[in-house]
Amino acid sequence: MNREFFHKDFFAINQDHEASEFPLKPFWSDTALGWIDRSQKDPYGGWVRGCRLRSFWLWVIVMSATYADLSDKVVLVTGGANGIGASLVRSFSEQGARVFFCDQDKKRGAALSKALGNRVGFHLVDLKKESQIKLWVRRIQKTVGTIHVLINNAASDPRMAIDRMSARQWDDLFALNLRAYYLTAQAALPSMPKGGSIINFSSITFHIGATPMTAYVATKGGIMGLTRSLAREVGPRGIRVNTLSPGWVMTERQKSEFVTPAVRRMLRQCQCVPELIQPEEIAQVALFLASEASRVLTGQEILADRGWAYS
Ligand SMILES: NC(=O)c1ccc[n+]([C@@H]2O[C@H](COP(=O)([O-])OP(=O)(O)OC[C@H]3O[C@@H](n4cnc5c(N)ncnc54)[C@H](O)[C@@H]3O)[C@@H](O)[C@H]2O)c1
Repeated sequence: MNREFFHKDFFAINQDHEASEFPLKPFWSDTALGWIDRSQKDPYGGWVRGCRLRSFWLWVIVMSATYADLSDKVVLVTGGANGIGASLVRSFSEQGARVFFCDQDKKRGAALSKALGNRVGFHLVDLKKESQIKLWVRRIQKTVGTIHVLINNAASDPRMAIDRMSARQWDDLFALNLRAYYLTAQAALPSMPKGGSIINFSSITFHIGATPMTAYVATKGGIMGLTRSLAREVGPRGIRVNTLSPGWVMTERQKSEFVTPAVRRMLRQCQCVPELIQPEEIAQVALFLASEASRVLTGQEILADRGWAYS
């Protein structure tokens, strides 16, 4: 059953050393090479291959959608130094937004901010500490006044069986994965105008009951409640709150720690569309949720999982 694929031990005993399908891949190659590969097996040969390659270029075009209303908007991203967060920072910056992100990874955060120029600001923040969250948001408020978009992205996803997790570890996880989402919203809301958007990251694991991740999944369930109730609370002010739940995303960390050939095979079977999900694609969904293009959506969850959970 696919939920067991999250178990670290599963990876240890299922390293089947399948010949790596596409070694040394850039981020887009799962899609590109996957389509080329399947088309070669296709009895219709070149014509079908041509169509699929055209589809690939269409995909690249879709990847770079522009939302004019995001230009010059002030966007806050938590955990922006790595993984999906770094893609969020890059994507919003490419839209012309002023992006402020925080992280506890000083080296990666500073490098990303330097690479993107002076419209992107990085602050070292431990999101488990309420005082640091407040200070971070206050500094941004002082610098720019208004905050248009808040993206609560940072989280930790320990694979830990129930008999191994202490009460202290549970509290720490909730402090980062759930309480920080509440506290950043609390701090940012006074500076959010009508049209503001809050995006809270949950996860596919909430839908499939991934194991052994009970505490993590509980935090992600909490985010669903946070989004729904906060959307109702701040809706009258014209502020929207939505949940974005990625499927299994091929971040550097996931690939180095968890994504074995067996996992890739499982994902290709369980997802409606087999291509593996890249961080940049999740960022595209976040752009939509931040933009006025999604103004009818609030209190919702978008499950960006290529159809894994419900098909
Ligand atoms: N990657 C996936 O497959 C996947 C799947 C479903 C949901 N998600 C969700 O997407 C979001 C991003 O996931 P990711 O895989 O990119 O994570 P990641 O681990 O790659 O990055 C998380 C970032 O948060 C930072 N961080 C951790 N603890 C912090 C703290 N105390 N204070 C400040 N920063 C801290 C880390 O340094 C890191 O830069 C998370 O909410 C995660 O639960 C990810």
